[in-house]
Amino acid sequence: MSTTDFLPLLGTDYVEFYVGNAKQAAHFYKTAFGFQNLAYAGPETGVKDKASYAIRQNKLTFVFTTPLRSDNPVADHIYKHGDGVKVLALMVQDATDAWHQTTQRGAVSYLEPQTLTDEHGTVVMSGIHTYGETVHLFIERKNYSGAFLPGFKPWVTPYYNPPSTGLQYVDHCVGNVGWNQMNKWVDFYENVMGFRNILSFDDNDISTEYSALMSKVMSNGNGFVKFPINEPAEGKKKSQVEEYLDFYNGEGVQHVALATHNIIETVTDLRSRGVEFLKIPGSYYEEVLDRVGEIDEDLAPLRELGILIDRDEEGYLLQIFTKPVEDRPTLFFEIIQRKGAKSFGKGNFKALFEAIEREQGLRGNL
Ligand code: FE2
Repeated sequence: MSTTDFLPLLGTDYVEFYVGNAKQAAHFYKTAFGFQNLAYAGPETGVKDKASYAIRQNKLTFVFTTPLRSDNPVADHIYKHGDGVKVLALMVQDATDAWHQTTQRGAVSYLEPQTLTDEHGTVVMSGIHTYGETVHLFIERKNYSGAFLPGFKPWVTPYYNPPSTGLQYVDHCVGNVGWNQMNKWVDFYENVMGFRNILSFDDNDISTEYSALMSKVMSNGNGFVKFPINEPAEGKKKSQVEEYLDFYNGEGVQHVALATHNIIETVTDLRSRGVEFLKIPGSYYEEVLDRVGEIDEDLAPLRELGILIDRDEEGYLLQIFTKPVEDRPTLFFEIIQRKGAKSFGKGNFKALFEAIEREQGLRGNL
């Protein structure tokens, strides 16, 4: 049996954030990013200690959860990390088997397999710990037809629901881990999850002139789930990963990359709704076509929006990064449109990291 066979993943099921105010966070992601109401769980549905709002856009599902009292592990998580990603939930055929396979291979259990039932059917759920306090839940929903999960009720609001911005699905989720911890987590994704390392960037790729890091991209067998793992590297300036670890108070999810089929339309829309993006100097665009060759898009709108371009053997990609979406310089989003390329924009690291470094400098964290 090859190492990729034991944990078939159907894709990302949802991303759950622990936040200080779930009602307002859900509103922000609806209004600014174009998600729609999906489901709600809280005191009105029989959940006494927390409230959760699930929102959806195409194949993207985000859940925002907040504690209702301070003596609650969700409150402890927020006290320590600020708002951040708690759960990267993965869709599986068999959540019981996924839990047995991964815990037998060394994963620490977070949630033993449990069956949740309501009038719409059955969901089996299990979970394991990954880096920091982040967890993976395995979700088996093939026998379920409800809005989201048992315990949730459909969330319907009669007032304005902002339209989609064209965001489609999770392309990849990046974890920041501590000094010299990258290979430990690479081994975890290889040995426990059956992923393989598809790309590596060392501190030569990610120049030490700039806030340095090392990164390895882990992918599951079908390529539906990709988790790059970053660790800080010594550079002339403080690593951007180190800044994250300081403010998140530990390891965690650095960015979630969201795919679109039309990045110019999506980013124009996101900007008009108040999403803030990193600025790239105009000089980037003077030489970019020499590096990446011909592309389908006009350069002018890409330059105007600050969208970056990179090419690999299989095609090219367009990408852009938001500023941190919270006051702590921790979580941000990437918007990505792949036109054949399966890589992650290595050719943009210098321009990107200079932009990140300027922001770090403004925060006094270099
Ligand atoms: Fe990324």
